[in-house]
Amino acid sequence: MNLTVGQKAAYERDGFLVFPNLVSPEEVALLRSEVVRLRDVDAPGVVREGSSGAPKSMFRLHEDNGPGASPVFRALSRTPRVLGVAQQVLGERDLYLHHSKVNVKAAIEGSVWPWHQDYGSWQLDGIQRPELATFAVLLDDATELSGCLYLLPGSHKWGRTEAYLDTSTAYRLWSVTPEDMKRRMSESPPPVALAGKAGTCAIFECNLMHASGHNLSNNDRWQAYFCFNTCKNRPVDVENPRPDYVRSTNWAPMQPVDDSAVLDSVITEVV
Ligand code: SIN
Ligand code: MN
Repeated sequence: MNLTVGQKAAYERDGFLVFPNLVSPEEVALLRSEVVRLRDVDAPGVVREGSSGAPKSMFRLHEDNGPGASPVFRALSRTPRVLGVAQQVLGERDLYLHHSKVNVKAAIEGSVWPWHQDYGSWQLDGIQRPELATFAVLLDDATELSGCLYLLPGSHKWGRTEAYLDTSTAYRLWSVTPEDMKRRMSESPPPVALAGKAGTCAIFECNLMHASGHNLSNNDRWQAYFCFNTCKNRPVDVENPRPDYVRSTNWAPMQPVDDSAVLDSVITEVV
């Protein structure tokens, strides 16, 4: 899938692009059945929250081994619609996934993701340059009531903002302080809600400010994320690195597959 000149300019300007209907309803159904299978897995890469222990995040879906491995998510991450778009916005052919995850924001219980830049965590992982992009896939219809993601247009141009470890959430996150965000938002265009039908996708720059609120609706909000880095920007060694499911050590360039591989769930590599 080739981005237009207008889309490339919009990514530069806003720090993100949205693609309605990029994943078909049949593919969404298959991906969702994988989430149902994986949410019962008992592994460190499945993070839970609340008194019911409902899953919040499940990681490392894109590899062909390990407890989170999913051939369907693996295939999707390598399609021209996903990998091809990431290659174009990052301007590099050789990419790998720093991590992949599904966030299950359960109806009523699913909680906030505070304002943050993804590079806030990834710099601490030893990644030297902000040359990454996150590809999001809506696996439910996402609404403002169900805690859809918000993107702050142009905020990637601010560069890195000092982060603090917010321990108040189920998944401890390097977040931007409320003081910083209030000041920044007073000078910024309003946030854009990534609300839409299941199958809608977006890609955003790793310094783009984003956040989402509590799910107050009676429907779950499931979303997948593929976090692409360029192979030449692989992390340097750090003390006490995070586990492999969030800080991948598989730095081999990803090999593309056909768009049909998602439904086939067979990875047929193309040259
Ligand atoms: C994230 O930014 O990592 C997740 C946000 C969300 O799923 O709402
Ligand atoms: Mn994020």
